[in-house]
Amino acid sequence: MLSFKRALIFAVFFLTAFILLRRSHTSNDPEPFRKPPPQPEGAKDSHGGASHNPSTTSYTPDTAVKDQELPAQKAIQQQDMSKMSLYEKLAYQYPYDVETKFPAYIWQTWKWTPASGEFTFRDQEASWTMQHPGFVHEVITDQVAVHLLKLLYAPIPEVLEAYNAMPQPVLKADFFRYLILLARGGIYSDIDTQAIKSALEWIPDSVPKESVGLVVGIEADPDRPDWKDWYSRRIQFCQWTIQAKPGHPVLRDIVSRITKETLKRKREGLFVSKEKSVVEFTGPAVWTDTIFDYFNDARYFDMRSSQGNISYQNFTGIETPKKVGDVVVLPITSFSPGVQQMGAKDYDDPMAFVKHDFEGTWKPESERHIGETN
Ligand SMILES: *[C@@H]1O[C@H](CO)[C@@H](O)[C@H](O)[C@H]1NC(C)=O
Ligand SMILES: *[C@@H]1O[C@H](CO)[C@@H](O)[C@H](O)[C@H]1NC(C)=O
Repeated sequence: MLSFKRALIFAVFFLTAFILLRRSHTSNDPEPFRKPPPQPEGAKDSHGGASHNPSTTSYTPDTAVKDQELPAQKAIQQQDMSKMSLYEKLAYQYPYDVETKFPAYIWQTWKWTPASGEFTFRDQEASWTMQHPGFVHEVITDQVAVHLLKLLYAPIPEVLEAYNAMPQPVLKADFFRYLILLARGGIYSDIDTQAIKSALEWIPDSVPKESVGLVVGIEADPDRPDWKDWYSRRIQFCQWTIQAKPGHPVLRDIVSRITKETLKRKREGLFVSKEKSVVEFTGPAVWTDTIFDYFNDARYFDMRSSQGNISYQNFTGIETPKKVGDVVVLPITSFSPGVQQMGAKDYDDPMAFVKHDFEGTWKPESERHIGETN
């Protein structure tokens, strides 16, 4: 609910906090903006893991890396960010710590703020506030998003260049959700999506919250021979609702991919075409690929004990949440209830968490997606 005035206050607040935190950098206080240096490849985030199904992939506990953190941190302060890869810069700017709490933020974006007469998602928007007392809930307009991102990504100008180069609001809206979750964490949800259950209930009590850094839902699980006519992936994770802790490696990876691809397309002068759809560029296809690549990434998971790659087969037909590493994948009912196919149950099912507005029909997904955000 940001009016322009509030947006300015918000921006000034971020800027002040940013400067103060940078100044306090010399002290030993925990400091959210710059923390551990990028560790050597193969060791990254190894301390951020949690044990899980031992028959599959698991994090490698690596105490040696932890011990090195302090001297390395000093060294990195003198180091020049320009020598880092984009992925490393993002890791440096927004380090990940699985043991922190999920931040109590709800981020949404729309052309208008709820204060505007043109705002037509009052019920959906209110459902998030009602289900999440004590959370900070912001509906960010495009105008405000630009300022907010400038503050959050000032040290990594290529990210801002990519955001500004995107020619369509749908691309920016997709990109924004990954950027805000990478920097701040919390919940992102599309404006046309209603909260049925509080996010505090999304993860079963049996799963410790300090072992989870990302919660995703299934958009589509089309177990039919012609699935390719309808979906770009056999299992597709949805990106209309995502919960994350800041700095999660999946977010780091997708921001890095989209930034690079955007700057490439900017040079080529061609952003979206029949072959280069929104779904593949910023939407659920690239989101799904990034998550699966994380599951199969030896930097984060010990592949030696694994019995083959994690694929759609590990998630097809699931009816309860499934945890792989620090990621919880919710069944299709959770974020796509009431679609009356692919095994999704109805809105009153105990596993139904959000109600997404599909506009009643199954249009080809790229079309549907553009319709949603434009
Ligand atoms: C994923 O599926 C493969 C084969 O389908 C299996 O070997 C592996 O153990 C599964 N992993 C998880 C985490 O369920
Ligand atoms: C497993 O996944 C990795 C990363 O996506 C890929 O390079 C490799 O070829 C896959 N292996 C198999 C057996 O599918």
